[in-house]
Amino acid sequence: MTVCAGSHCMRIRLLSHRDLAAILEIQNSSRQASAWEETDYEQLLGDNQGMVLVAETEGAVPPEILGFAVFHKVGEESELWNLAVAPRHQRRGVAKALFQEARRRLLQAGVAAIFLEVRASNAPALGFYRALGFKTLMRRKRYYQDPSEDALVLSIDLAPPSGN
Ligand SMILES: CC(C)(COP(=O)(O)OP(=O)(O)OC[C@H]1O[C@@H](n2cnc3c(N)ncnc32)[C@H](O)[C@@H]1OP(=O)(O)O)[C@@H](O)C(=O)NCCC(=O)NCCS
Repeated sequence: MTVCAGSHCMRIRLLSHRDLAAILEIQNSSRQASAWEETDYEQLLGDNQGMVLVAETEGAVPPEILGFAVFHKVGEESELWNLAVAPRHQRRGVAKALFQEARRRLLQAGVAAIFLEVRASNAPALGFYRALGFKTLMRRKRYYQDPSEDALVLSIDLAPPSGN
């Protein structure tokens, strides 16, 4: 999928092995992203229930990776396991474009809802998820360590209710 905002266009596609260094760099530039190892992403590449999407510049040679999102499907539900956009490309619609393409693919795969956990103090991520329509389901006390913090569990229904 290609998405344009003004004169900037980006392409959203599935992760490939050659993207691993770039997404690890983006992940490691953000304290709030889950700190995964390269092997974690490699495992997901071979997992039928896993889906890792990357956003890259369209038109530039070579393209620059702007951000990524990791989903894992469990039956009719999907969990958002990781998400980060390179700091200098934030607030340009990159995460929104990743989510729109994920939503399209997950609906096609029969997924009805997405769930995620987020640190209660992560205001940028909460602002993003709420802008997309996620609702808070519950608070998990001291769910995170280093530093210890509550998690908020958020979810969104993907399919609009039928019949109205
Ligand atoms: C959360 C994150 C992925 C958002 O990515 P992004 O590409 O900057 O988000 P978008 O540009 O697509 O934002 C879409 C909308 O979400 C909301 N939003 C995004 N960032 C926000 C912020 N910092 N504060 C409040 N609202 C925000 C806005 O409504 C925004 O629309 P607008 O820019 O027109 O106002 C990014 O801040 C990030 O990488 N954070 C560090 C990693 C992280 O926290 N991951 C989540 C772990 S659970």
